[in-house]
Amino acid sequence: MIAVSCTSRSAWTEWEKTVIEQSDSVMYVCVMPADSTILRAQSRDFGPGELASPQLKTLIDKMYRTLTDPSQDGVGIAAPQVGINRRMVLVMRYDKPDMPIEPYLNIKIDSLLGEKVPGPEGCLSVPPYRGTVRRYPSVQISYLKPDGTPVTEKVEGYSAIIFQHECDHLDGILYTDRADTVFVNEAWAAEREGFSYSKPEWWK
Ligand code: NI
Repeated sequence: MIAVSCTSRSAWTEWEKTVIEQSDSVMYVCVMPADSTILRAQSRDFGPGELASPQLKTLIDKMYRTLTDPSQDGVGIAAPQVGINRRMVLVMRYDKPDMPIEPYLNIKIDSLLGEKVPGPEGCLSVPPYRGTVRRYPSVQISYLKPDGTPVTEKVEGYSAIIFQHECDHLDGILYTDRADTVFVNEAWAAEREGFSYSKPEWWK
């Protein structure tokens, strides 16, 4: 008899547990080209085992702190950017009051709606560049809340752009793959002159 439970099939890997538990509250952010193996990989869904685990809450908390840290100050982050190849993104909801940053698990874009429009983008994993990318003004997304509740919703405006950028990360795609133009963001670079993004000692 072979018994394989959902929990064991989808449990956290040792590497994932190391990253989640050993990282500082502000996590190391993977950058190109040094971390291309992680940033270019396909990310997996969470299973029931991870959804119920304390590690998931820790990961969400640390990704939130990383995204909002003054050294990053971003509007969205995807789990692969902190070394975890799982389908989770945090997105600042410009379309909601007070613009909360919310986590979205096992997220997928069901529909891309409207005509593409060009806009400026950057990425925490591709410093110090900026680029112009054409994206759809509206998306329909499906995802799980951290408590496992499934949701489908339509998102419009800048948040829709962020969802497209962050969900691309889960398929190993970077905005520079889609950009019409890419250039050095002088202001960004000047603000962070001398700041070094060094990997923790335990990073493999
Ligand atoms: Ni990005």
